[in-house]
Amino acid sequence: MTSNFVPMEFQLKTERLDLNMWEESDAVWMRQLVGERGVEMPSLDEARSQIINMRKRAAENGISLLTIRRQKEGDLIGYCGLIIGRSTLEEPEIAYELFRSSHGKGYATEAASVVLDAAIATGRRRLWSTVRIWNNASFRVLEKLRFERHHSTWDERGEVVWNVREL
Ligand SMILES: CC(C)(COP(=O)(O)OP(=O)(O)OC[C@H]1O[C@@H](n2cnc3c(N)ncnc32)[C@H](O)[C@@H]1OP(=O)(O)O)[C@@H](O)C(=O)NCCC(=O)NCCS
Repeated sequence: MTSNFVPMEFQLKTERLDLNMWEESDAVWMRQLVGERGVEMPSLDEARSQIINMRKRAAENGISLLTIRRQKEGDLIGYCGLIIGRSTLEEPEIAYELFRSSHGKGYATEAASVVLDAAIATGRRRLWSTVRIWNNASFRVLEKLRFERHHSTWDERGEVVWNVREL
């Protein structure tokens, strides 16, 4: 797929965090992060092939989720980035997920802020984020980033709230 946008920068830095493109070795912690959702952990091979697919789509689409590493501690704590998700390549979604052990320290907001800047640099004018109605931590992150609630849709698991941010 080609687009009218400049490819997103896949290496980003904040005060405390480094965001980078996925490496196959990230499969080890990525499957543990998925496991924290309370669903079945993917096998190492499944996680690895998801990462290979993600890298391929990043090259095609010019947007991606990125890994988040804490600079001082050197550990990987999750991911943040842009995805098509339920939206479009022109107006993608911002997404984030962190290990429980690193919640509540402002990391998601810090990572998402620099992803938002990276989205602006691609020439995009609007971002979305779709959030399950019960996910108050996620709503709070979006609020801090000046997203606004827009509308809801429903699927088999219930209400999904669409939040929008004009860039
Ligand atoms: C959503 C998530 C990424 C937030 O990460 P985080 O690093 O803890 O976020 P931050 O610390 O930047 O900000 C969280 C904010 O939510 C608030 N918060 C946390 N839990 C909350 C709750 N249950 N109800 C209301 N607010 C809550 C925090 O107090 C903080 O706000 P504050 O800065 O005003 O105090 C993290 O909870 C997560 O990975 N959840 C599982 C995956 C997920 O839901 N991803 C989003 C899918 S849409």
